[in-house]
Amino acid sequence: MQATAAVITGWVWTTPVFCFKRDRETESRMMTVHFIGAGPGAPDLITVRGLRLIEAAPVVLYAGSLVPAEIVAAARPDARVIDTAPLHLDEIISEIQAAHDRGQDVARVHSGDPSIYGAIAEQMRRLDALDIPYDITPGVPAFAAAAAELKTELTLPDVSQAVLVTRTAVRSSSMPEGQELANLAAGRPTLALHLSINNIAKVVRDLSPIYGADCPVVIAYRVGWPDQLFLKGTLSDIRDKVKESGVTRTALIMVGAVFGDAAFTDSKLYDAAHHHVLRPKVQTSPD
Ligand SMILES: C[S@@+](CC[C@H](N)C(=O)[O-])C[C@H]1O[C@@H](n2cnc3c(N)ncnc32)[C@H](O)[C@@H]1O
Repeated sequence: MQATAAVITGWVWTTPVFCFKRDRETESRMMTVHFIGAGPGAPDLITVRGLRLIEAAPVVLYAGSLVPAEIVAAARPDARVIDTAPLHLDEIISEIQAAHDRGQDVARVHSGDPSIYGAIAEQMRRLDALDIPYDITPGVPAFAAAAAELKTELTLPDVSQAVLVTRTAVRSSSMPEGQELANLAAGRPTLALHLSINNIAKVVRDLSPIYGADCPVVIAYRVGWPDQLFLKGTLSDIRDKVKESGVTRTALIMVGAVFGDAAFTDSKLYDAAHHHVLRPKVQTSPD
């Protein structure tokens, strides 16, 4: 985006606040593609910014069944609203190009947070080539929404201080060399496995020697949707539970001791004996 003038409008502490004034004519012709994370499903889990952009956009492109109807319904009555699930990349880009030619903003809505398996990089690469401006508004990823529903902290002191967001290979997508599940999981991080529910047998086979057969596992199905479901078990019995439930898509496999009743210590953050810049040690005067 081209800024044609910068004006100092005020001071915050010692830092000047700059306000960029654009040439009016340029602004009216400029459009932006707003990539927006819609959150996992519950329509009130979108950000305020994301919702406002959707409400204002003359063109709304959304990713099929994983974006709730209520969020799409927030579009203007005269908006061009398109489900991109049946479209291929070229068709999506030509919709955007047409909006660009009309000078119209596009709200490009993805499920969860678009930075996680959102396939936005390939769209942004095309937009760069076409010199079409874009920005990104983050969303609540499904794994964070699952942790909230489970009332679980994914990073418990002494138990796990790492969260591994990954997937397993399927016929259409392989894993880069070195990122096979057994390699990445060697340090027993808390796992949020995406796009892998149909690989549950292999996941159990790969993880059991590392985490132990009694390690807790939660299958989080369609978190935030009215039919949300959690299956709780261990590496030894979760495969049968998944089979019985009939869950075959839109589920996370969450693995790790944090999902059990692992003993953990309090964090240092609120430890009365721990002082830091916002809670300095009070000097007592000698008497
Ligand atoms: C293409 S990825 C999109 C992930 C999304 N960008 C996010 O931030 O959660 C789709 C996979 O994410 C997981 N997923 C997405 N939404 C979900 C939900 N509401 N409940 C459970 N898992 C979900 C599933 O593993 C699903 O196969």
